[in-house]
Amino acid sequence: MTSTSDDLATFIVVANRLPVDRVVNEDGSIDWTTSPGGLVTALEPVMQRKGGAWIGWHGAPDETVEPFHHEGYDIVPIPLSAQEVTEYYEGFSNASLWPLYHDCVVDPEFHREWWDSYRTVNTRFAEEVAKRAAKNATVWVQDYQLQLVPRMLREARPDLKIGFFLHIPFPPIELYQHIPWRGELVDGLLGADLIGFQTPGAAHNFARLAHHRDGVTGPDDSDDIATLSDGRVVKIKDFPISIDARGFHELASSPQVHQEAEEMRTELGNPSTIIFGVDRLDYTKGLRQRIRAIGELFDEGKLDQEDCVFLQLATPSRERVEEYKILRNDIDLLVGRINSASDTLARPRIAYRHTSVPRSTLAAMYQIADIMIVTPLRDGMNLVAKEYLACRDDDNSALILSEFAGAALELDEAYMINPYDIDGMKATIMKAINDSPQARAQKMRAMRQQVFAHTIDDWADSFLTELGE
Ligand code: ADP
Ligand code: F6P
Repeated sequence: MTSTSDDLATFIVVANRLPVDRVVNEDGSIDWTTSPGGLVTALEPVMQRKGGAWIGWHGAPDETVEPFHHEGYDIVPIPLSAQEVTEYYEGFSNASLWPLYHDCVVDPEFHREWWDSYRTVNTRFAEEVAKRAAKNATVWVQDYQLQLVPRMLREARPDLKIGFFLHIPFPPIELYQHIPWRGELVDGLLGADLIGFQTPGAAHNFARLAHHRDGVTGPDDSDDIATLSDGRVVKIKDFPISIDARGFHELASSPQVHQEAEEMRTELGNPSTIIFGVDRLDYTKGLRQRIRAIGELFDEGKLDQEDCVFLQLATPSRERVEEYKILRNDIDLLVGRINSASDTLARPRIAYRHTSVPRSTLAAMYQIADIMIVTPLRDGMNLVAKEYLACRDDDNSALILSEFAGAALELDEAYMINPYDIDGMKATIMKAINDSPQARAQKMRAMRQQVFAHTIDDWADSFLTELGE
């Protein structure tokens, strides 16, 4: 670990999470591990290319950690107390905003002390950025945990160029109005010069809300500019995020990953079809529906366990939040029930692991996946679908994708499913397995082209160019 320079930064990314989490082992030693989730996967290569500073929380409560230099940029950890982790992170961010922004797939809870904590922590982030940013620096604020930061920064440092990108969906106005502090959140975002969303629909939902704020004119359907009462303009646009496609491809093509993939396939008993799913263990990912559909296909004999395995990897996520605890138990039960219905000891129907794995192991899993299944009930983008395409050389494979993932707009050649329709999903899984090699290849080629033609560098460059203009 090397220390940071004393210079102020001309480019700053600020996100709730740092790319690495500080973990204290049982023997007291310290490790840094990769943080979970799409935001980190997407922004790491951007920071490695551009340099600058990444300001965020290091994942451990009640600990203050000094800034350090890491892979070409500075990391500036922001401390959170245990109470703030409960109220700001697990509470307002992940039990109020997260479910509400995902179509209320579970009920959001609102508590005034969670909101107070959200405001306090947003203030801390904004103050740290204001202290570290050079004159006229560009600051890129990320995601729903920090929606008040753009306005706070604008007030403290009007010289800065401020961009905001939301990695998750933005809900329709009818749902948004439930939030007791909706006005303050919208005004918080309007502190930015440019507000980016994953899809045109999300940008449109926000634009409708902004339009209702006092003194705001526009945007309308033909225009993505809101003009505030002081004459300042805010651009509102979609920028669909992507991945480092070449990086994933090179990793997946390496001899080590090929060997790991071979070993994995052997360990799974060399079945002719491997269906693969990988997600944070989150109720938005449609895991219950996916597992139920595949379980029924085994029960009905349409999938034969002598010949087919479903490999599901679930990353531990937000483990102290009630709905995540319930989900974990439900999935354990569901998988156990399906596997125990098997009449052979040789191989489970579902090989389920509740763990995070190194990226090379994940690439090996993509390599052995004949069928990739991605079933969110709602998802901002879903990078897993894009990673699968970037890691595949073999065209005789298939991506099953929920129509409710942002990625469905770009990857419209996928075998599309509605995760609420279990029978429809079962039929599509069977179609993806049984389609002709030509039909599968044509789809894979078209989608792979899309992923390689719109990479994470293109995403970052188009956002930052628009912000700079
Ligand atoms: P989200 O941001 O909601 O978690 P995404 O699909 O956009 O969803 O991104 C998830 C990211 O986390 C991907 O880059 C994926 O490779 C990574 N990931 C998910 N599960 C695991 C796991 N078990 N081990 C390692 N990486 C994982
Ligand atoms: O992309 C959505 C997102 O919530 C990110 O903001 C976050 O970093 C990631 O998923 C993982 O969630 P968490 O930081 O709560 O572990």
